[in-house]
Amino acid sequence: MIAKLILDKKREGRALGSAEIREFIEGFTRGDIPDYQMSALAMAVCCRGMTERETADLTDAMMRSGACLDWKDLAVPTADKHSTGGVGDKLSLIIQPLAAACGVAVPSLTGRGLGITGGTADKLETIPGYNAGLSLEEFRKVVAEVGVSMTVQTAEICPADKKLYALRDVTGTVASIPLICGSILSKKWAEGAGALVFDVKFGSGAFMKTKEEAVELATAMVKASRAAGRKAAALVTDMNAPLGYAVGNANEVVEALDVLRRGAERADEDFVALSVELAALMVSLALEKPLDEARAICRERLADGSALAKFEAMVKAQGGDLAKFENRLAKPTFKFRIQAMRSGYVCAIDAEKVAKVALQLGAGRMTTADRIDPRAGVTLDVKIGDKVSVGSPLATLEKSGAPDGLERAAADLLAAFSFSQTDPGPRSLIAERMD
Ligand code: URA
Repeated sequence: MIAKLILDKKREGRALGSAEIREFIEGFTRGDIPDYQMSALAMAVCCRGMTERETADLTDAMMRSGACLDWKDLAVPTADKHSTGGVGDKLSLIIQPLAAACGVAVPSLTGRGLGITGGTADKLETIPGYNAGLSLEEFRKVVAEVGVSMTVQTAEICPADKKLYALRDVTGTVASIPLICGSILSKKWAEGAGALVFDVKFGSGAFMKTKEEAVELATAMVKASRAAGRKAAALVTDMNAPLGYAVGNANEVVEALDVLRRGAERADEDFVALSVELAALMVSLALEKPLDEARAICRERLADGSALAKFEAMVKAQGGDLAKFENRLAKPTFKFRIQAMRSGYVCAIDAEKVAKVALQLGAGRMTTADRIDPRAGVTLDVKIGDKVSVGSPLATLEKSGAPDGLERAAADLLAAFSFSQTDPGPRSLIAERMD
């Protein structure tokens, strides 16, 4: 293989052969293809695109750059859900144990938060003792024994993606559907789940800002996964407002536990409905049941406490102590509550603005080396459509350490809310579906 000829071919807009893609990625992973040639290919792909077949080949080659898990020895089928990331997105904490409670094994390699996007691993690590850094062997054991495990992806999975993402980040080539698709899917395929459900988010708090971009990515991921013989479905969901009430880390675990303990009671109904829908898609694909039937099973397992029992069993198996978590929440933090300055209906809560406030308070990280404050965050008192009057509580800001910055953050948070004099009417979080 001559790298320069492949670069010429893609620059001219021609489709690359499977072997060309495989050898290029293999060479790059080994270090034989230098960063400048890989960067040039990334830019050519960005400008010229890739066919469905090329995208599937790229994903496959990236997947094969590291360890690939398989779960053939389990007695039950496997499934996982992937979200492109959002604000207040604690769905995994509910969906993964819920699907496991329905008889699907859920091996879930997850990530840490960066920028305005929260990370499931950071949320779980607010539970004292929870080990989100399992080895692949430990991960296998927890999945086999409990039926669900959530841990950070190890360095053995898709090393090519890590190297390539670092180049894309500095060469303006992140925003390319085939490259995003290859990056997300290679990690999910390597994890080995037989059925994959994608929650592709769009809006101010999402990686994809428009619904059209999210539909394009969702379609590409479903098509490439199916072409590779994997069961796949996707929902395209609205991320213009935070999901549920809590944005942070420990407060998101509290909200997820509330849903697992009490179902829809006290919870944001849209958020519970989306949780059930995503879990039902996993169950329907993995167990090959009609979606209506899968939905009914999921609702039942959420209501009868089996999803909660799976969550508790997973936390225990990974060293976590929920009683200590609840005790720790009793420790004082600095709080500041904001109130409505006018009456009307809440018609928008800008997810990006809320996330930036949470970040300012210490709930997130700007670089991978930053440490987070597990207790920092924002908990909303209202959701879109609620009627408020002057002085009604809108949200509470919370942080540990010292109270500095709370008042400024409170002013920024107030700017995230918009009000109208008429009821904005019902909204659905699900904008499109590919199932
Ligand atoms: N998330 C990923 O893992 N990779 C991308 O390229 C974009 C989002």
